[in-house]
Amino acid sequence: MDKGDHISVTLSGASVNGTEEDSLTTKQPQRRSLRRSWNQLPRCQRNLIILAVLALCLTLVLVLYNDQIDAENNRVIGNNGGAFLFRENREVANSAGIVQNGLSDGMNALDAGNLNNNLKNPLPNIGPPPLSFSNDNAPVFKDVKVIDTPNLNKKSDDNLQHAGERPKESLLQGPLVEFPNKISIQENNDNRIDEPAVEAQSGGGDDDNRAAVEAAILNPRVVPGTNNVLITDYINNMEAKLVAQKQHFHGATNERQTAVVAAFRHSWNGYKKYAWGHDNLKPLSQSSHDWFGLGLTIVDSLDTMYIMGLEDEFTEGREWVSNFLTFDINRDVNLFEVTIRILGGLLSAYHLSGDKMFLSKSIELGNRMLPCFLSPSGIPYSDVNLASMSAHSPKWSPDSSTSEVTTIQLEFRDLSRSTNISIYEKVTHAVNKKVHALEKTSGLVPIFINANTGTFRNYATISLGARGDSYYEYLLKQWLQTGRKTDDFLIVDYMRAIDGVLTKLLRRTPKEQHVYIGELINGKDFKPKMDHLTCYLPGTLLLGHKFGMPTSHLLLARDLLETCYQTYMRQPTQLAPEISYFALTTNEEQEIYVKPNDAHNLLRPEFVESLYYFYALTGNRTYQDMGWNIFQAFEKHTKVAYGYTSIGNVKHIFNTRLRDMMESFWLGETLKYFYLLFSDNRKEIDLDKWVINSEAHLVPLRNH
Ligand SMILES: *[C@@H]1O[C@H](CO)[C@@H](O)[C@H](O)[C@H]1NC(C)=O
Ligand SMILES: *[C@@H]1O[C@H](CO)[C@@H](O)[C@H](O)[C@H]1NC(C)=O
Repeated sequence: MDKGDHISVTLSGASVNGTEEDSLTTKQPQRRSLRRSWNQLPRCQRNLIILAVLALCLTLVLVLYNDQIDAENNRVIGNNGGAFLFRENREVANSAGIVQNGLSDGMNALDAGNLNNNLKNPLPNIGPPPLSFSNDNAPVFKDVKVIDTPNLNKKSDDNLQHAGERPKESLLQGPLVEFPNKISIQENNDNRIDEPAVEAQSGGGDDDNRAAVEAAILNPRVVPGTNNVLITDYINNMEAKLVAQKQHFHGATNERQTAVVAAFRHSWNGYKKYAWGHDNLKPLSQSSHDWFGLGLTIVDSLDTMYIMGLEDEFTEGREWVSNFLTFDINRDVNLFEVTIRILGGLLSAYHLSGDKMFLSKSIELGNRMLPCFLSPSGIPYSDVNLASMSAHSPKWSPDSSTSEVTTIQLEFRDLSRSTNISIYEKVTHAVNKKVHALEKTSGLVPIFINANTGTFRNYATISLGARGDSYYEYLLKQWLQTGRKTDDFLIVDYMRAIDGVLTKLLRRTPKEQHVYIGELINGKDFKPKMDHLTCYLPGTLLLGHKFGMPTSHLLLARDLLETCYQTYMRQPTQLAPEISYFALTTNEEQEIYVKPNDAHNLLRPEFVESLYYFYALTGNRTYQDMGWNIFQAFEKHTKVAYGYTSIGNVKHIFNTRLRDMMESFWLGETLKYFYLLFSDNRKEIDLDKWVINSEAHLVPLRNH
């Protein structure tokens, strides 16, 4: 183990080649400068470094036993990769990525045999979704009682042990839940899932899409599929019944909500003063940071301000969008990030305010992102230049992230449904179909997919954290968005995936029985590591359960929520780290621990999001109290004179290492979820009418 740690240091030093120091001093989540430094190195020097790294890896591979290597390798990647796992995860673009690839290439040769067996494991048989989905929601409070049944407490699992069949291969210390969909399986004569009809993979459909995209991108200011009708003319002539109805909110009604609004205004005022029109505020240096050049913080904040009743601020933001937001910007942006933040933000602002200006902007942005879908496979390229309208894979890899290509559909579909322009939904639903057709491991997906071949990267990690997370989220949410059809392949994939989570990724710590979701490195080696990003899952699971998903989802949701809460409360700051590790054996000192490189907190929303769903769907105010503890921790440790900042270390209250960055999701997501969590009206947002995207933006549910 010592050896492994030593190796990791050597590797990162060699590969990063001096730039690591920069990253430590600047403490930025974005890795652009690293990549630039890397790119600026002469080619031969770069090649030399890569060769050296590869040689080291080969040596490693030869010297150590297969299993040992796996274990150590996981740590190496953990240490290097940890610092780079940001939600803006394309920014992994740096030499750590290369180290990782180099290592795993070495590993792949060795482990190919094992892995193939693993991949060929038949999918567990689960039944079709319950046929009795009614369009009325299951009664909320009745469901909730199940959560709070004392029997289900993790410390009294005996009851469950008899009730539920324990999956044989599961390494859980105690059974968490009954085997998913047991009833469906028993009721079904043949255990195979009836594959819902999915249109043919190739042929006319794809070619039609391609031709339509090629035509659409000739001029992004006209409406695709029309004879050069300008977007503004089209919008102005839209039938009145198609236009969104203005929604009404009343503003804060209690002290906690008032405190959240104050935190929002403090953040907004700092941003306005020092970073207006730029993507992010750097509150310590009183400067700004640009990533896409799209005024990210403004667009991400619009619906939050609308919901909080901050009319003046909303109007300021609206005026900026109307007068200054332009997409004719000559730089590469990330399709996924721009979709969930900017397109999602604009659509949400449109649906809440009924202001058609936001819809016009959305159409132009949609058009400018269409080039991503001109890849040979239809799996979108990750990056696009919105001015030149050319798209490509990330510079550092041929692959797109799986979660990225599967986390654009809610927004593109909503754009199509809101405008009656079909192209956006068509191209992104084609991605759904492609990914559905690919072979998976118990419904779980590798985190990389190739836009040229349309296939997963072999031996890529399986994770519900960075690069994997929202694939699962959008399976459920798309099904909700489109009227919860029982023959929808997305919901079948979702159920299968959660089943895979239960059998392949779920563990309990040996002493305190904390339930967590680990990762499969190279698609097979379990690693007891959970990103904070994964803490969105309890909320999503509970949402699914409200709409008919099995009890197993509810139980997992409850246990995971508790673990996520512990990742906050066990830190002296009461703020969670980016990544937590869990004990595998009773010999380990701590059941939940944090590695030094993973101890940062970027003001992320995922756990608060889950608390919001728990409160909204159960009405239990305990979740508000949990959220209030965390809100106060943010106030205490991240608030600075001109905003709130990411911190580098949650493990010490006197050494939090302020990072000088206020991410747009702090305003767009974290504060919005806090505000809704503390509402006296848990249905302030009606989850029977709205679905909330991966960046906390609202789009309406449709009936088909
Ligand atoms: C939507 O577009 C189709 C043609 O593509 C048209 O037939 C239909 O009437 C339109 N619907 C609305 C509500 O404008
Ligand atoms: C509310 O939730 C907490 C935490 O899950 C639980 O301990 C408590 O029993 C619940 N209260 C009610 C009234 O259901």
